Amino acid sequence: MEMDKLVSLCKRRGFLFQSSEIYGGLNGFWDYGPLGVELKRNLKEAWWRDMVKAHDDLHAPAGAPRPYEMVGLDCSIIMHPQVWKCSGHYDLFHDFMVDCRESKKRYRHDQVNGRWVEAKGKRVFAAVQEGGEEGEKLAEQRALKFFNLRAKNADELKWDGPLVSLTTVQDFARVLGPDAKELGTLTPPREFNLMFKTYVGALSGEEGAAFLRPETAQGIFVNFKNVCDSGRVRIPFGIAQIGKSFRNEITPRNFTFRSREFEQMEIEFFCHPDESVAWYRYWRDRRFRWYTDLGLAGERLRLREHHADELSHYSRGTADIEYAFPFLPPGDFGELEGIAHRGDFDLRSHMEGKLVKQGDALVVEQGPDGKPKHRGSGKDLRYFDDVKKERYLPHVIEPSAGADRGTLAFLCEAYREDTAPDENGKPTERVYLKLHPRLAPIKAAVFPLVNKDGMPDVAQRLYLELKRDFNVFYDDGGAVGRRYRRQDEAGTPYCLTIDGQTLQDQTVTIRDRDTLQQRRLPLNGVAEELRKLLR
Ligand code: GAP
Repeated sequence: MEMDKLVSLCKRRGFLFQSSEIYGGLNGFWDYGPLGVELKRNLKEAWWRDMVKAHDDLHAPAGAPRPYEMVGLDCSIIMHPQVWKCSGHYDLFHDFMVDCRESKKRYRHDQVNGRWVEAKGKRVFAAVQEGGEEGEKLAEQRALKFFNLRAKNADELKWDGPLVSLTTVQDFARVLGPDAKELGTLTPPREFNLMFKTYVGALSGEEGAAFLRPETAQGIFVNFKNVCDSGRVRIPFGIAQIGKSFRNEITPRNFTFRSREFEQMEIEFFCHPDESVAWYRYWRDRRFRWYTDLGLAGERLRLREHHADELSHYSRGTADIEYAFPFLPPGDFGELEGIAHRGDFDLRSHMEGKLVKQGDALVVEQGPDGKPKHRGSGKDLRYFDDVKKERYLPHVIEPSAGADRGTLAFLCEAYREDTAPDENGKPTERVYLKLHPRLAPIKAAVFPLVNKDGMPDVAQRLYLELKRDFNVFYDDGGAVGRRYRRQDEAGTPYCLTIDGQTLQDQTVTIRDRDTLQQRRLPLNGVAEELRKLLR
């Protein structure tokens, strides 16, 4: 699947628009159109239903060490600034960036690649933003242009090694920036905190400074005690939250994959330290299965367990669920969700203050005055097990997913082209979205075959009946074949057509988007059949 085709379908059919497009757009921000908003809502609702609402508190699901409880939260986006100081985001949530003095563009240091090349007695690092074969091709074009050579003289370029990251380069005077004509226009790398800063109330100075949350997780940790004290849960239990997060990404790109405003679906699962590894395994496998059940199966989806040297010092396991997005070089995967064993790091940080590693232990980081650099809440966040009479700090397993990345992956996976006969039997090209019926924005479309002989009346009655329970669409415009194609492109799994026979025997045709097969159903059994098909 070529990404351009999906991007164009998303705009044409109203899945995704660039934010503030009439003013030229704003990089890293996206708007969901009428079909997109339904698709993303369906994804979030499937997650909420499967993880929280339909969760059975009484029995252990397959693979779980024991039964557990699940509850939800909806926390504010702006929280006390101390939250981010203790969590580590204030000091550590940054990327390194380089600026180009000539093009005025800004790049993430680790996302610039390039190749060393020599010609006409000069050695330069030809930098590009792409990777893989495309990056190599572009680096050659940049070098040819810089040395004023034609493509037929490409053999005058003496390459020294493969495409490597700019992070391996010390001498910036020899770097030809990705959009520069001259050498040495990139500034040395500088730290850039990814949190969006804002000011609360009338205070404009640092006293009023606050941040838009870069993850929903911290809202859950700082409410851990509230949820326990409100008496609803006993360990093991999980708290789930869906909400917006904001990161001032240096180079947002790849459609919605890396945005500056996005939605996360996060669970913090609190358990006894002795059982934490078993719970980590449960959540890793459970979350992977969730994607495959909804249609992200096959080679493009993988579960990647981190190696021991990739783990944070407090973690006893982390895995990523990754998808081979079509905009990535072949063989590359992008993260959809991370499942992390976080030990007691987060609750301890909010209790004692920002933690750092000292030897094998985590200790409160001290400032130059010997006092905690970022003081915690001082509240006792330990859990008291009143059956075992044991007080302890629970360990946390965190499955953290992105709703926008998920939506994008399901769109990429669903995009199909085939050839199907039109209403005259002539084979024609067809574009359709093979979305799981639970995710499809429109569940069924209702058509009168023609706009006469009482067909619209029957069709509208059926539409109104179905509308009570499902998102259905009524369409009486144009040839029925064209109406089918419009629904195929929107990913609508079923089309219901009222025709001459309906008026005689009270049956309708139901057409399946994927198999194109049609069968007849009793008119009064359509709602029940749809309910069964969508389950
Ligand atoms: N609380 C853990 C956490 O936030 P993360 O890996 O930084 O972990 C979790 O983010 C998920 O959020 C990612 O797997 C991804 O799906 C989504 N995400 C993160 N940054 C994003 C961005 N800039 N644009 C879109 N989605 C993003």
